[in-house]
Amino acid sequence: MTQTLTIALSKGRILKDTLPLLEYAGIVPIDDPDTSRKLILDTNQNDVKLLVIRAADVPTYVEYGAAQVGVAGKDVLMEHEGTGLYEPVDLKIATCRIMVAAQEGKSLSAQRIKVATKYVKTARSHFATKGQQAEIIKLYGSMELAPIAGLADCIVDLVDTGSTLKANGLAPVEHIADISSRLVVNKASMKLQSARIKEFIRQIENAVAA
Ligand code: ATP
Ligand code: PRP
Repeated sequence: MTQTLTIALSKGRILKDTLPLLEYAGIVPIDDPDTSRKLILDTNQNDVKLLVIRAADVPTYVEYGAAQVGVAGKDVLMEHEGTGLYEPVDLKIATCRIMVAAQEGKSLSAQRIKVATKYVKTARSHFATKGQQAEIIKLYGSMELAPIAGLADCIVDLVDTGSTLKANGLAPVEHIADISSRLVVNKASMKLQSARIKEFIRQIENAVAA
């Protein structure tokens, strides 16, 4: 009996950019991912399902084995606390940078600065490495507002074109890391469904190379 391969993805740009890679591997959703309200999508392969969840939840579903594989941004993986994941393939999709940004012309010279971000672990580690004292203020989105509204001196957030920063009078100050999405695999599944998962990884690697 074949075991189901469950793939965890998030709606939006990761789903959009992952579908062509899955198609290359012969996997096509039956339900329209853009319009369906279903959270488990059937595919043209009976034993392959797609879970559509929040981006930050993908590593958790894969770590606990509720999905054997998934696609998550490196930014999300850097925040994840667990150790039950392999990251075998850089999918080179949803590429951007995680950066420190502040109001145009403002210096970050205070002894202790306030930093607003949803990337608490990454921000803490970045400022600790620099020896800069930082109070990290956890937000869940729209980080660009924090310096303008007087909540923080700077933010740690994703930057792609830079247009969101610019539109809000902010400018990049420091580059922390380049970001892209990764294929993640549950460590136990890699052993228990070794042949199946290795074949899937190989197909996805080919899709990325193509
Ligand atoms: P949620 O909607 O669940 O809160 P989210 O807003 O982080 O999550 P997306 O905006 O779809 O979800 O981002 C998913 C991933 O895409 C991020 O984790 C990051 O790796 C990447 N990403 C985010 N913003 C950009 C961008 N502007 N350009 C390129 N890649 C991006
Ligand atoms: C992301 C990110 C930045 C923006 C950067 O937001 O949080 O705000 O993209 O991209 P840019 O440099 O090209 O402007 P997104 O568009 O995903 O909206 P979100 O707030 O819903 O995550």
